[in-house]
Amino acid sequence: MAHLLHIDSSARPGRSGSDAHGSHTRRLSHHFVQRWLAQHPADTVAYRDVGLTPPAPVTGAWIHSAFTPVDAREDWMRDTLAESDALVAELIAADVIVIGAPMYNFGMPAQLKAYIDNIVRVGLTFGFDRNRSAEPYWPMLTDKPRQVVVLTARGGYSYDGELAHLNHVEPALRAPLNYLGLSDFHSAAIEYDEFGDARLAASISRAEQQVDALVEKLGGTVEARIEVAA
Ligand SMILES: Cc1cc2nc3c(=O)[nH]c(=O)nc-3n(C[C@H](O)[C@H](O)[C@H](O)COP(=O)(O)O)c2cc1C
Repeated sequence: MAHLLHIDSSARPGRSGSDAHGSHTRRLSHHFVQRWLAQHPADTVAYRDVGLTPPAPVTGAWIHSAFTPVDAREDWMRDTLAESDALVAELIAADVIVIGAPMYNFGMPAQLKAYIDNIVRVGLTFGFDRNRSAEPYWPMLTDKPRQVVVLTARGGYSYDGELAHLNHVEPALRAPLNYLGLSDFHSAAIEYDEFGDARLAASISRAEQQVDALVEKLGGTVEARIEVAA
């Protein structure tokens, strides 16, 4: 049985195709999870809506707390880290992490960046020891392979082609997640949102087909790994 972590980060509450002015990334992430559950009904899903309920951004108190050894932490430090601890526990539990990630000003929404800043935790998701000169930093989420699926949407187009150098969504997610040990990365994108014409419709249809193909591919991989591990 696999466990999915489904994260949405669009500031738009509804889903395109179902709700007026709805979000394309919510549409794609929901599509992925519904299709996955149709094929693997015993699997479980945790849902985290950082778009509508963003984690608190990292503060000076958070940094002080996170870099204080666990045994030396005071109550206020444990309180400060409580939300981050919960987000890390959710991530550790997951076999598949599905992230709806719109492009805002060439990067991810601030809400999603706040989530990333909360899950990159010394001693929990990455190790750091300045005395290990060959490898002072190391990933800690290596107990099992985790599949990361980034489902993005943008108003313009060609961000996979001639504007690829301006696309800081997938690369800015891949780098920190890879740093934690999550190296199996997959993505699909809707483009042309701002044009609302036949090119948008074609892009939605193509992205949904890509999502279906990802569910097929990853479903087999994840279930096979879990059977071997059992
Ligand atoms: C604040 C903001 C910034 C945006 N910046 C960009 C951008 O840099 N490039 C782009 O192609 N589209 C941009 N867009 C358009 C969104 O990427 C597009 O509407 C996308 O569908 C949003 O995802 P969603 O449908 O899940 O909400 C922006 C939209 C918003 C609201």
